[in-house]
Amino acid sequence: MSSAPQALVPNWRIRRGPGSLYRKIRSLEYLATRDRGEVWRFLAARYPVPFSAAARLELVRRFVETTNAVRGYHTNREMLAVARQILALAGRPGLTVVEAGSGKGASTAKLSLAVRIAGGTLHVFDSFRGLPANDELDEHLDGRPARFRAGAFAGRLASVKRVVERFGAIEVCEFHKGWFHETLPRFERPVDVAILDVDLLSSTRICLARLFPLLRAGGLLFTQDGHLKKIVETLASERFWRDEVGVHPPAIPGLGERKFLEIRAASP
Ligand SMILES: C[S@@+](CC[C@H](N)C(=O)[O-])C[C@H]1O[C@@H](n2cnc3c(N)ncnc32)[C@H](O)[C@@H]1O
Repeated sequence: MSSAPQALVPNWRIRRGPGSLYRKIRSLEYLATRDRGEVWRFLAARYPVPFSAAARLELVRRFVETTNAVRGYHTNREMLAVARQILALAGRPGLTVVEAGSGKGASTAKLSLAVRIAGGTLHVFDSFRGLPANDELDEHLDGRPARFRAGAFAGRLASVKRVVERFGAIEVCEFHKGWFHETLPRFERPVDVAILDVDLLSSTRICLARLFPLLRAGGLLFTQDGHLKKIVETLASERFWRDEVGVHPPAIPGLGERKFLEIRAASP
């Protein structure tokens, strides 16, 4: 039996990765559907500094441009929600934003643009070699197992910097390279907004224990890991907040239901 000549067999495999047409079409589709509510909130919000409609649209365009070109692990809805909070604090003296977990730099580039407009500094913490070795076995909220391979999501510091130079605002970034348990204890300045995307329970614990107490009154910490059961259990544990973080347990809207969570530090 003879098989069909190779050239006559159509190749239906579509390229979906960064730079592909598929990805560009998908990001526009997401913007008009999944992300639409947050896009409107971001565009319509009141900000304490002049921020024209054209400049707001340009920021959204640059977020989409970055999504199309760089592998990222977030949605633009999430990044716009964080950008809106950063911009709500625009002009605050010493405005400090922290990102823990930058992956290939797509989220860092987007956040840096918002931080530049707001007049602040973005402190970026990552090993820049991916996740640490671990034996954690977690579960997604829907019961699927979640395991995290050492080295997953790695973006080398030089390559992350190139991404931020091209798509973001490198001049407002300070990079802190190393494992969180080594770098975070050396960081002591008051924080206005923090965002964690670190996957592992051990990494989440150290980030919360070190960063949450640094939040100024009313400051905000976001986590993109609310889809993982052990992280949800920890966030729900009064003991964790009291003994490891040293604060009264905060209310966390959507805990156990949403991946993207917002935790506000108590106001005085
Ligand atoms: C999912 S990726 C971040 C993705 C990025 N925020 C984005 O949206 O594109 C998780 C990152 O957390 C970092 N990470 C996790 N645990 C860490 C630890 N204990 N120390 C340093 N970096 C860590 C990894 O190196 C990785 O870059």
